[in-house]
Amino acid sequence: MNYYERSDLSIRHLPVAFHEWEQKAREILAAGPFGYVYGGAGAGDTMIANRKAFERYRIRPRICCDISKRDLTIRLFGQKLQVPFFLAPIGVNSILHPDGELVPARVCAQTGVPYVLSNVSSQPMEKVADEMKEAVRWFQLYPPKNKELTQSFLERAKKAGYSAIVVTVDSTMLGWRETDLRNAYLPFLEGHGMGNYFTDPVFLSQLKQPPEEDKQSAVLLALDEGNNTCFTWEHFAEIRKRTDLPLLLKGVTHPHDARLAIEHGADGIIVSNHGGRQLDGAIGTLEALPEIVQSAAGDVPILLDSGIRRGADILKALALGASAVLVGRPYAYALAAAGETGVKAVIENLVAETEFQLAISGRSSLQEIDASLLTKM
Ligand code: FNR
Repeated sequence: MNYYERSDLSIRHLPVAFHEWEQKAREILAAGPFGYVYGGAGAGDTMIANRKAFERYRIRPRICCDISKRDLTIRLFGQKLQVPFFLAPIGVNSILHPDGELVPARVCAQTGVPYVLSNVSSQPMEKVADEMKEAVRWFQLYPPKNKELTQSFLERAKKAGYSAIVVTVDSTMLGWRETDLRNAYLPFLEGHGMGNYFTDPVFLSQLKQPPEEDKQSAVLLALDEGNNTCFTWEHFAEIRKRTDLPLLLKGVTHPHDARLAIEHGADGIIVSNHGGRQLDGAIGTLEALPEIVQSAAGDVPILLDSGIRRGADILKALALGASAVLVGRPYAYALAAAGETGVKAVIENLVAETEFQLAISGRSSLQEIDASLLTKM
């Protein structure tokens, strides 16, 4: 493709770079929703650390290699994926677009990019699955306190064709996000992000009145389920027993936790600090990656997110041992700023840029990417 002669006129004149999408979303959204996506925890140091970690590595290209054929495919858990990145689980998409998660799901189905659906999506997982048909989708779980609700979410996800479960464990308490505190904004309290709860028979059976009659009590119960501060490795091992789907643990930044995750049955690890939204002053994920890769010793695939903005970032993460990455805010801003066209543009640009970067670094497939690609500053 010659990306300078785009045939699709609808995506001409749209933003290209991340900061342009962020600016466009800032102009379109009200302060509350924009701040909710933008905000990091505390002083924002973890968000900064995420980006700084990428800046510390430089790519050393090789030249005069045959790059006429280029392959971005990878294999994970027996499935072939078209690209080495997923759309990360981002909840409450109805604050960004009336159709919420149906939009990224639709674009993923069109482009072959895999999608991780959030537990706190505004749309129920079954409706999202209908949108995706055969496309690769995983389901992210905030482990509820209630074991039957856990079981119900896991069974629904399997039935709806989600092919792996991602358990997020860095958010058993809501982050200290000063933008949201200043705006007095929490989307859940306005009823966003309840798509899976309000359609769940186990959840509904716990309510005295249906959500249509007493939304506030229903929302507070859902929030309480996710506020699972008692969650330990034993609980993770229990979830392991409850599903035969590949199980990944998201929110790992310590090499010892990577080992413990494997010992307690994880099939994959996602190195993540929630895009810098949870613990302020935490280590950047790319900085944490090499030790985690070493600790996992090839036993399970390691994925990474938090701060991935462009093709160079993807190659750097892969060079340091990640099998794939996840991308969060870029598509959330595009969803708010330009709906389906916006998400499609962000995804297509990221695919094209990653392919370009791979080629001009002198490689024609991701299997050729290793530590020799990089030099540390
Ligand atoms: C998130 N993230 C997240 N993670 C998760 O496991 N479940 C969720 O529901 C959400 N929700 C969510 C909402 C918003 C607005 C953001 C920005 C993020 C974290 C997400 O999956 C991912 O870890 C980060 O977004 C990655 O960092 P970047 O790419 O945004 O820097």
